[in-house]
Amino acid sequence: MKLSRVCGSREKNGVSLYEREAAAETVPVRKNALTAIIAEEKSHQFVPEDIIKFVAKPGFRAGNAEFSHTEKILPLIGPKNSSEGKGCVMDNFIFKNPTEILFGKGMIAEIKNRIPGDRRVLFLYGGGSVKRNGVYEQVKSALRGRKVVEFSGIEPNPLFETCLKAVSAVKKNRINFILAAGGGSVLDAGKFIAAAALFRGNDPWAILKEQGANVTGAIPVGAVLTLPATGSESNGNSVISKAATSEKLHFYSPFIYPVFSVLDPETTFSLPSKFVRNGIVDAFIHVMEQYLTYPARAPLQDRFAEAILQTLVDVGPLTLRKPGDYEARAAFMWAATLALNSLIGCGVPQDWSTHMIGHEITAFYGLDHAETLAIILPGVWEQKFASKKKKLEQYAGRVWGAAGAHEAVRKTEEFFHSLHMPTRFSDYGISAEEAARKVRDRFRERGYVCGEHGDIGPEAAAKILRSRA
Ligand code: NZQ
Ligand code: ZN
Repeated sequence: MKLSRVCGSREKNGVSLYEREAAAETVPVRKNALTAIIAEEKSHQFVPEDIIKFVAKPGFRAGNAEFSHTEKILPLIGPKNSSEGKGCVMDNFIFKNPTEILFGKGMIAEIKNRIPGDRRVLFLYGGGSVKRNGVYEQVKSALRGRKVVEFSGIEPNPLFETCLKAVSAVKKNRINFILAAGGGSVLDAGKFIAAAALFRGNDPWAILKEQGANVTGAIPVGAVLTLPATGSESNGNSVISKAATSEKLHFYSPFIYPVFSVLDPETTFSLPSKFVRNGIVDAFIHVMEQYLTYPARAPLQDRFAEAILQTLVDVGPLTLRKPGDYEARAAFMWAATLALNSLIGCGVPQDWSTHMIGHEITAFYGLDHAETLAIILPGVWEQKFASKKKKLEQYAGRVWGAAGAHEAVRKTEEFFHSLHMPTRFSDYGISAEEAARKVRDRFRERGYVCGEHGDIGPEAAAKILRSRA
């Protein structure tokens, strides 16, 4: 279903998938996709407020998405739920986060009470950090008595090719529980392997291409998080890269939420400062993608978001300076989880353009995930300044005690710099012009349209990148 490629406002909260499951023939559309439909439907048989149901005929195009067969489209916004500037109210939402969080020092031991004794466990980890910081021994001890198969070598920005080897190990050993220990990459790999092992199609890459819509089940996954950043420990997302084609794609499925996640701040003491810096920036920008759009009459979500931002501003520099400060690491770790566990995104417009563009930059140039985001976010704000102005002003005042939208952009870049995070392509010797061209072409190929207004397509993405030379 090509329309699901339109990314943005309802991308990550799972509502679409739940509705899709409930009524297979009914395809819910996010508000920005609807905007694209309305913009391109020349006959204007309806106005946004009147739309409850719309039937797309074969060949109908919305944005760059083309329908191949007749489909009913049910917008997630109700008939009175109007867009910005017309007295909008909070959107309908479904919130369900099934992950049990086991937080604090020594909590890895709790795993023994969470994984039934008869499970055959795949213990998944990365390049070996778990062996140097005591996590490996703690996990092995908690798993004592169970059949355990180890699979190591999951790389940062986990590769599809490596995950397929793990899927073979899962099948060969009749694994029925996956325990992933590490950063977001290991957790994402665990989630993908869990879904791919039960996937009925020929090529599991289709899971990524369909953004998870074709996932019908997954082996249960548990997690031990050692790098606060991605929120993967408590969400239904996974991001996987394919070396063969230099692609990096994400998928969502309600089946891949970890059943539990252990968050012991002490496991982060061994992190090199670069990954702490990355984690602070990634979590900060996860909040921004759900917050920095336009006022949507969701005061609690705004305050949640601002509280997470403020916490990261407060403890970020401290936790970099003092890696063994448990309190600071605990605050950072919990903030990063709450930044992307769906809570702050309930019922509000979202703009995942920084991430969507950033994934392409990692795929082409190998920059760390957070490094790409720090370059792109200020560019998105500058290019979409008028439509984001109100929220930028609110953010400037509430988080920085500063006045004006320009100050919001300046303070944010200053904050990133204070963490030693560069914000320009030139800092990495990358040509912004070349990056713009490559990303524009990729967006075109895939029919990507991002932003809370569905107005960041291939050309807009290129413009954003060019502005970050
Ligand atoms: O591989 P090991 O040896 O474990 O080393 C890792 C890796 O080299 C190391 N590390 C992790 N914990 C450590 C440690 N080193 C010392 N002590 C510890 N306690 O850190 C390095 C980077 O790890 P990685 O997992 O790649 O980093 P991160 O957590 O930032 O994950 C990045 C990946 O997550 C995706 C990104 O695109 C990227 O692929 N994302 C996933 C999301 C999600 N699932 O919701 C959302 C994010 O926006 C993001 O896209
Ligand atoms: Zn991220």
